[in-house]
Amino acid sequence: MRFTILTTASLASLAAAAPAQQLEERQGGCNVGFVFARGSTEPSPIGFLVGPGLQSALKRLIPSMITFPVGYAASIATNVSMDRTDAASVAEGAKAFNKAAGCKVIIAGGYSQGAAVMHNVIGLKKTALSDEIKSKIAGVALFGDTRNKQDGGHIPNFPNEKARVWCNASDGVCGGGLNVNAGHLSYSASQTGEAAKWLDERIKAMGVELESISAVVDTSVQVALDAIIASA
Ligand SMILES: *[C@@H]1O[C@H](CO)[C@@H](O)[C@H](O)[C@H]1NC(C)=O
Ligand SMILES: *[C@@H]1O[C@H](CO)[C@@H](O)[C@H](O)[C@H]1NC(C)=O
Repeated sequence: MRFTILTTASLASLAAAAPAQQLEERQGGCNVGFVFARGSTEPSPIGFLVGPGLQSALKRLIPSMITFPVGYAASIATNVSMDRTDAASVAEGAKAFNKAAGCKVIIAGGYSQGAAVMHNVIGLKKTALSDEIKSKIAGVALFGDTRNKQDGGHIPNFPNEKARVWCNASDGVCGGGLNVNAGHLSYSASQTGEAAKWLDERIKAMGVELESISAVVDTSVQVALDAIIASA
């Protein structure tokens, strides 16, 4: 593990060069990859309503985790179809999972249209992901899920116990509509914390032995690596 000996001081040169070869090596040594899709109109890479809260709660539990944001447009024009997203967004979702393919275990999350992206990539569009990648997915945490009602709170063609939906009872999208109301915008740190804990349990349930790089990787280096990989 080449990057485990990096210090914060060497970070600037690393970030400046962002050598693709080193990136691949890093991905080859990836323990846990976190694929996240933000909600409609939220800013790239992971929005602000659910993504950052879930990411930082996960980082506390799994310091070596690397984030792979779904680089889709997150346009409200694409949320209205039956799928609740479109083919281009599903393709971007698959791309993010493929980038995480070198990780030992993959976890995922999505908010609003991002949750629908997950339903489509993992379950509805059966050929979007290879079986190999699909088998690495330990758990998927979905918030304000625009396909909650249609898919009965599960991801189709995917084990029920590996997907869990967080929906505020008053959230105007969870009953099948597309109404963005206060309930849709009010997911809290306690809910993202609960989801992170659940995802961590799902990882453990996979029984995959992870490298203990968490103790040696400086958090700031890790954060910068996330940024480099996200933009690669
Ligand atoms: C979906 O699109 C409609 C129409 O453009 C918009 O009013 C609504 O806020 C969007 N809902 C979500 C959950 O993105
Ligand atoms: C659900 O949404 C309402 C309205 O924003 C909020 O007051 C309430 O705290 C939320 N409940 C939960 C469990 O998040």
